[in-house]
Amino acid sequence: MYAPKPTSRFILFSLLLLLLLTFLAPSLANEDVDDDIESLEELIALDEQEDAEGGHHETPSEAEFVSKAQRIVLELNNDNTKRAIDGNEYVLVLGYTPWDARSAELMPKFAEAATALKELGSSLLMAKIDAERYPKVAASLEIKGFPTLLLFVNSTSQPYTGGFSAEELVIWARKKTGVPIIRISSDAEASDFLKKHSVFVVGLFEKFEGSYYDEFTKAAEMDNEIQFVETSNAEIFKKLFPEFKPTNLFLGLVKSEPEKYTEYEGTFSTDGILQFLDDNKFPLTTVLTELNAARVYSNTNKLQVLIIAEPDDFKKLVEPLQDVARKFKSKIMFIFVDIREDNLAKPFLTMFGLEESEDPVVVSFNYSSSLKYLLESDTTPTSIEDFCSGLLSGTVSPYYKSQPIPDNKNMSILTVVGKTFDELVLNSHENVLLEIYTPWCITCETISKQMEKLAKHFKGLDNLIFARIDASLNEHPKLQVDDYPTLLFYLADDKTNPIPLPTKSSTKELAALINKNLKAQHHEVRDEL
Ligand SMILES: *[C@@H]1O[C@H](CO)[C@@H](O)[C@H](O)[C@H]1NC(C)=O
Ligand SMILES: *[C@@H]1O[C@H](CO)[C@@H](O)[C@H](O)[C@H]1NC(C)=O
Ligand SMILES: *[C@@H]1O[C@H](CO)[C@@H](O)[C@H](O)[C@H]1NC(C)=O
Repeated sequence: MYAPKPTSRFILFSLLLLLLLTFLAPSLANEDVDDDIESLEELIALDEQEDAEGGHHETPSEAEFVSKAQRIVLELNNDNTKRAIDGNEYVLVLGYTPWDARSAELMPKFAEAATALKELGSSLLMAKIDAERYPKVAASLEIKGFPTLLLFVNSTSQPYTGGFSAEELVIWARKKTGVPIIRISSDAEASDFLKKHSVFVVGLFEKFEGSYYDEFTKAAEMDNEIQFVETSNAEIFKKLFPEFKPTNLFLGLVKSEPEKYTEYEGTFSTDGILQFLDDNKFPLTTVLTELNAARVYSNTNKLQVLIIAEPDDFKKLVEPLQDVARKFKSKIMFIFVDIREDNLAKPFLTMFGLEESEDPVVVSFNYSSSLKYLLESDTTPTSIEDFCSGLLSGTVSPYYKSQPIPDNKNMSILTVVGKTFDELVLNSHENVLLEIYTPWCITCETISKQMEKLAKHFKGLDNLIFARIDASLNEHPKLQVDDYPTLLFYLADDKTNPIPLPTKSSTKELAALINKNLKAQHHEVRDEL
């Protein structure tokens, strides 16, 4: 009955993830940005004016650039939306509301991408819709959350799956609008490209045709975030990918980190290339930021090991960790979280009850089993390596939160914690009525008071124990409750099937239920004898 339910556990975990993501949302707010997007534009216009009045700047200011770019984005409304969507092969729509901080964050990047795409001669129309002002239009486009990005191809929409920097927006948009690859034919083009890009995939082909080339193109279209480049000139290739062994066919990934050049050694298949990117696209250790958080969390095909620490502690680990990370790179993603960044670190620390930690904390999650793991020895490169091997071989035990074991002497209601749940509840020979509560549950207090009365009422009955557990700080694999408060009656003769008692009854009714269950049990025992 209260045995682990994988689905509900999964939901719980998803909720946690969601919480984590929404937790991030407010922090994305740029404090300088007014709530009102319109006023953001006004602000920029004002900036421009001031600049113009100053009158002696040579290069266009960033504000001016953004402002110009904003005009390239079409504002959708009741009148022009249908025409815009139906009249263009490709339309990328940003649904926003003026009060949303994440929309405000994205807006200038969207505008910057629009400018870049226009300069590149893209046929994509970039448009935005204020969903608060035009709710009907937004609903007709099926825009629900904010910000929402949708690509309409011949009036049919598909979700946006790329990154959220201007560069990533451009890369994704080009991939999905028929220009997935940049061809480089001259030394000057290569230099120019390198000025703008530090992460890319580069392919060398004698001719841009044939089955290998088709697989390469397909991979370029299916990947969502990395710029693909091609050339047929070995000298140009060498400029883009210096660690090149002369050959006719070559593919490599370039990144901006110590492990800069990675050669693809598999066969030229779309799946092979995509897998190669999955294994290698992130740095050996990724620093979690508010900007990349969504992308990192969604990369769940690898086991994630998080090192939550002070930057100074992490710096000491980083060098030796590179080797560990390289060793596990196709299976494990290493993520560094700055312990001082509350928005990023707190949700993880809370899951382990380690909010007060000053030492590095190393944790991992298995999203399919919803289990979590903690490195419980000192954090050294060796202990991290052992932890990783153990995770992969399944020999690390999952972690369950627990408060320290309390002194229960003379308590009419025992305090149970994660570590004593077995001893006090499952393995004890008494009947145990357990109250499961959390500090934030509003209705828990009523039940707590009723428990006090019941404990008093049944005082002296030595086969009956009253107990409570704070589920926000304690966990146990056999205690899977999603609803608080919950009252579970663990009868002495069957601890595996606790009986849930109604939490909205009067104390009298509860007392009657306790008596009834105790009696039923004694009958059974007598009957058996
Ligand atoms: C969109 O429709 C036009 C006209 O029917 C067609 O030529 C074009 O290939 C379509 N585009 C895509 C990406 O399917
Ligand atoms: C994660 O959990 C799933 C489902 O229980 C299991 O099959 C898988 O092996 C686990 N992965 C790791 C790396 O422990
Ligand atoms: C527990 O109760 C006994 C008897 O009522 C009393 O003598 C003893 O001092 C109490 N111990 C504590 C720790 O309160």
